Amino acid sequence: MSAQSVNWPPPSSSAAPPPPPLPLLLLLCLAGWHGALGLAPVPLRNVSVDVGDNVTVVCSNEGRAQIFGTSNKITWIREGREDGQSKRLTVEPSGLLKLINVSRFDTGDYYCTLDDDAVRDRISVQVRTPPPALHNVWVKPSTILANILWEVAGTGGYPIIDFTAEYRLKPSPGDEADDWKPIIPTHIPPNSRQIDVYHLEPNTTYSFRVWATNQLGRGDIVEVEGHTHHSVEELELARHLLAGVENFDTRVWVAAVGIVMGTLMVLGFGTCYLLYRECKAPCVSFRCFLLNLSAAGGAGSD
Ligand SMILES: *[C@@H]1O[C@H](CO)[C@@H](O)[C@H](O)[C@H]1NC(C)=O
Ligand SMILES: *[C@@H]1O[C@H](CO)[C@@H](O)[C@H](O)[C@H]1NC(C)=O
Ligand SMILES: *[C@@H]1O[C@H](CO)[C@@H](O)[C@H](O)[C@H]1NC(C)=O
Ligand SMILES: *[C@@H]1O[C@H](CO)[C@@H](O)[C@H](O)[C@H]1NC(C)=O
Repeated sequence: MSAQSVNWPPPSSSAAPPPPPLPLLLLLCLAGWHGALGLAPVPLRNVSVDVGDNVTVVCSNEGRAQIFGTSNKITWIREGREDGQSKRLTVEPSGLLKLINVSRFDTGDYYCTLDDDAVRDRISVQVRTPPPALHNVWVKPSTILANILWEVAGTGGYPIIDFTAEYRLKPSPGDEADDWKPIIPTHIPPNSRQIDVYHLEPNTTYSFRVWATNQLGRGDIVEVEGHTHHSVEELELARHLLAGVENFDTRVWVAAVGIVMGTLMVLGFGTCYLLYRECKAPCVSFRCFLLNLSAAGGAGSD
C-alpha cells in the first residue's frame, strides 16, 4: 500500500513541468492584479438599448438574477469614469441601475459592487442609434454629371435600410440657397457605395449631401462640394452618352432582339430542311462518310 502511494504520481509525469514563458507570467501577474481589483473574474454581459429609451439593469450575483437585500449597499460605477461619475447614472433603492433617455454617450461598461467589496456584475451597455455620418464622402464631377462616393463607418446597431442623396447649386455669398433636389433613386440600396447625378451645368459648383437610414431614423448628414468641368468635347460626349441613357427605348431593344431571333429561326428552319432532304436521299452520303472515316483510320494505323 505504502509503495503504491509513493509511486503516485507515476514517475513518467513526476518530472517538473517546464516553467511558463515570461509573457504568460506577466499575463498571470496582470490577471492577479485585476483579480485583486475584482475586475477579471466577472464576465461582461451585453445590454442593448435604443437611443432615447430607458434601461434598468439588475446587479446580479454571478449570473443568478438575485436582487440583494436593501441592507446591502450596491454601488454602480462606469468603467473609465471613476473620477466624474455621470449624473445620468441613477441607482434605485433596490440597487437597480437606471439610465433614463439614453444617448450615444451612455455606451460603455458598468460594474456594480456590493458593500464596496468585490465586483459582482459587469455589463456592457450598447446604445443603438441612427447610423453615424458616412466616411470619405467625395464627388467625382464631370461636365454635366457627377459621381458621389462614400464609405460606411457603422450602422448604429441596426442594419442600414437605405441611403439618400441630394444636391443643389452652391449659393453664391448673399444669395438664398435653392431647395435640395433629390437624386434618383431616392432610396439607394444599402449595398451601394456610389450614385450618379445627371443634368448638371458645366463649370458650376454644386453642394451634395448624403446620409444613411436605419430603423431608428436618418443618420448624420455629410455635405460635400463639387465643381463641374468645362470642356467642349467632353460636354458633347457626355451629352451624347446621356442622350443614349435618357432616350433609351426598350422598344428598340425588343426590335433588335426580334430581328436576331428571327434570323436564327430562319437559319434553323433552313438547316432542318436541308437535313431532311439529305436524309430522304437514302443514306448513301452518310455511308460514304463513314467509309471514308474508317479508311482514314486504317491508313493512320498502317
Ligand atoms: C457582446 O458584444 C460584443 C460586440 O459588441 C461581442 O463581441 C460579444 O461576444 C458579446 N458578448 C456576449 C456575451 O454576447
Ligand atoms: C423614461 O423614464 C422617464 C422618467 O422615469 C419617463 O418620464 C419616461 O417616460 C421614460 N421613457 C420611456 C421611453 O419609457
Ligand atoms: C432626451 O435627451 C435628449 C438629448 O439627449 C433631449 O433633447 C430630449 O429632450 C430628452 N427627452 C426627454 C424625454 O427627456
Ligand atoms: C467658368 O465660370 C467662371 C465663373 O463662374 C468664369 O469666370 C469662367 O470664365 C468659366 N470658364 C469657362 C471656361 O467658361
